[in-house]
Amino acid sequence: MRAGEHIRVVDLRKRYGRTGPWALRSVGFTIPRGEVFGLMGPSGCGKSTTLGIIAGFVTPDAGQVLVDGRDILPVPPHKRGLPMVFQDYALFPHLRVHDNVGFALKLRGTPASTVASRVGEMLRMVGLEHKSDRLPEQLSGGEQQRVALARALAIGPEVVLLDEPLSNLDAKLRQQLRRDIRDVLQRTGVTAVFVTHDQAEAFAVCDRVGVMFDGTIAQMAPPPELYRRPASMDVARFVGESNVFPAVVVEGGAAPVVDIEVAGHGTVRLPVAAADAPAVGQRGSVLVRPESVGLADAPADGTALPGRVERAEFLGPVLQATVAVGDRTLLVTLSSWGDRAVRGDQTWLSLGDAFFVPEAPAGAHPGQERERVPLDAGGAA
Ligand SMILES: Nc1ncnc2c1ncn2[C@@H]1O[C@H](COP(=O)(O)OP(=O)(O)OP(=O)(O)O)[C@@H](O)[C@H]1O
Ligand SMILES: [Mg+2]
Repeated sequence: MRAGEHIRVVDLRKRYGRTGPWALRSVGFTIPRGEVFGLMGPSGCGKSTTLGIIAGFVTPDAGQVLVDGRDILPVPPHKRGLPMVFQDYALFPHLRVHDNVGFALKLRGTPASTVASRVGEMLRMVGLEHKSDRLPEQLSGGEQQRVALARALAIGPEVVLLDEPLSNLDAKLRQQLRRDIRDVLQRTGVTAVFVTHDQAEAFAVCDRVGVMFDGTIAQMAPPPELYRRPASMDVARFVGESNVFPAVVVEGGAAPVVDIEVAGHGTVRLPVAAADAPAVGQRGSVLVRPESVGLADAPADGTALPGRVERAEFLGPVLQATVAVGDRTLLVTLSSWGDRAVRGDQTWLSLGDAFFVPEAPAGAHPGQERERVPLDAGGAA
């Protein structure tokens, strides 16, 4: 076990039924103590399956789950001490808030006075001490989810598992609650695995996020790195909008330069960042996030592209515009009123913070901790 390592998941594989498709092909990650680790990906990619295996509700076909270096797969779920918070809160409907939160403590034979003070402490932490006598049905969805969080943390676990805890709530409440959850997790110093299909939520809550597709993790990184340095176009698309151009490397190495193809306009030569120093001739895509496109009345340099504003929407903090360049449309986000784009305006675009993503060799999943195995091998290795 490495220093600071708390949870290690090794090469998990799972299929439901003997002949079904693989829900998990090979999933592995290591979580240091106190980290909030996110698993994010589209519906059906295997997030809940992974969490269920850690919690003990799902039995994997292969792989290991180590907590403090000890394999917990043989340990039954109720003895793992890994409480889970679910999308639908799963509170006991007939128990008042304080009894819900104190339930597991009582079950362990904790003295009543200790239970009462611990429950009070938990309810204060989630801001619900004044509602401790309510039944769950007398609470809003957001309040119920805070009770569920307090209940999960009441026993003082070292790990908490959260499966889409915010997806039953409306947009405004989700934003509030994701801050609360982040706060509470940080204050308790608990190690957490937080599952969501929502990029903004994963970014707001998690220290590091694994992006999952189709039963594997495509990339694991802190949110800013996922956003600015995605390992593949799949990851890039999942973590936000971007302008994407076909590209070929014309100067390789540490400070690469590429030619990008702008449909209907022609070729533009551009310095780019890249994860691995690419070789001359390497093909791929160049990614420019909407907020990295600049608009100006005159060309800033030889790489500026002439465009015409097609649509401009004022969204409060930002202005979002689409700009026609050649026969394609670029998405531009401007943060300053001074740059206000007007429909029909002639404009010059500069592409900033361009990032090169090499074309993936067929079947490759960059960022994986190990190689994929053939899936027709007929069962777990
Ligand atoms: N009990 C089950 N029996 C059969 N197939 C299942 C079962 N549970 C999940 N699956 C399948 O396994 C795959 C992964 O499911 P999983 O629930 O882990 O996805 P998820 O990423 O949590 O999706 P969502 O975002 O929709 O919750 C899916 O194809 C799903 O249909
Ligand atoms: Mg799920």
